Amino acid sequence: MKQQKLTTAVQCSKVIKTYTDGTTKVTALRGVELDIKEGELLMLAGPSGCGKTTLISIIAGILDHDSGTCQVFGHKVSEFSPLERIKFRAKNIGFVFQAFNLMPTLTASENVAVPLIINGMERHAATLKANEILAQMGLSDKTHSLPVSLSGGQQQRVAIARALIHDPRLIVCDEPTSALDGETGQLILGIMKKIAMDQKRSLIVVTHDIRIYPFADRIALMEDGKIKKIVTSYKDAIKN
Ligand SMILES: Nc1ncnc2c1ncn2[C@@H]1O[C@H](COP(=O)(O)OP(=O)(O)OP(=O)(O)O)[C@@H](O)[C@H]1O
Ligand SMILES: [Mg+2]
Repeated sequence: MKQQKLTTAVQCSKVIKTYTDGTTKVTALRGVELDIKEGELLMLAGPSGCGKTTLISIIAGILDHDSGTCQVFGHKVSEFSPLERIKFRAKNIGFVFQAFNLMPTLTASENVAVPLIINGMERHAATLKANEILAQMGLSDKTHSLPVSLSGGQQQRVAIARALIHDPRLIVCDEPTSALDGETGQLILGIMKKIAMDQKRSLIVVTHDIRIYPFADRIALMEDGKIKKIVTSYKDAIKN
């Protein structure tokens, strides 16, 4: 069978990042090498503090690195002006934050519609589309709720819906199942996997949740600011 050549979506090479906290320096990334293909669901696992959130924040253009290169769809996002960066992210990237980061004064449906409105869609059409995706995630009865009246798992699903709604080419999720029960976690990963396969989107999913490992095409195991190993079988990931 002829093998289809997959395009590289993300390419990180020798990425180094040090935080300066007063007089203390913490080197969070110590030369990360990683690439992600189009249509791939890559999971990123590793102990707390090993640099997972730092790495995906750099990939998503939220944080700058000190040295090395990080290219997203062939662009060095760190070299963009602030406005170019905002535009690039609004069009190409969906991000699920570890702490959800929902806007407290907006309803679930309004939160989810934000990326569409930023990209120029009319408010009513954006809200209808937001309600559709919330329904897929089992939240059709919560579209008018404010984040404060939602459970942690419901807020997490709203955050995921917001990351997917504008059909970004790269979806980056920081522990997207941390507040979900096993069954809901499987449902959400099923939706993500289908997006990667059917629409050739690329997904990076940071996780500690071994129950969702089987959805990954590859699992990158991170340790002390570096990618230690990349495995293709979830059984190998669990062994490590
Ligand atoms: N804003 C910051 N200022 C100073 N140090 C930071 C900052 N953010 C992260 N760090 C440090 O950088 C290292 C990597 O942090 P990071 O948040 O990337 O880890 P993580 O792998 O995502 O951990 P977790 O699994 O707990 O979310 C840690 O030692 C952390 O204390
Ligand atoms: Mg983290």
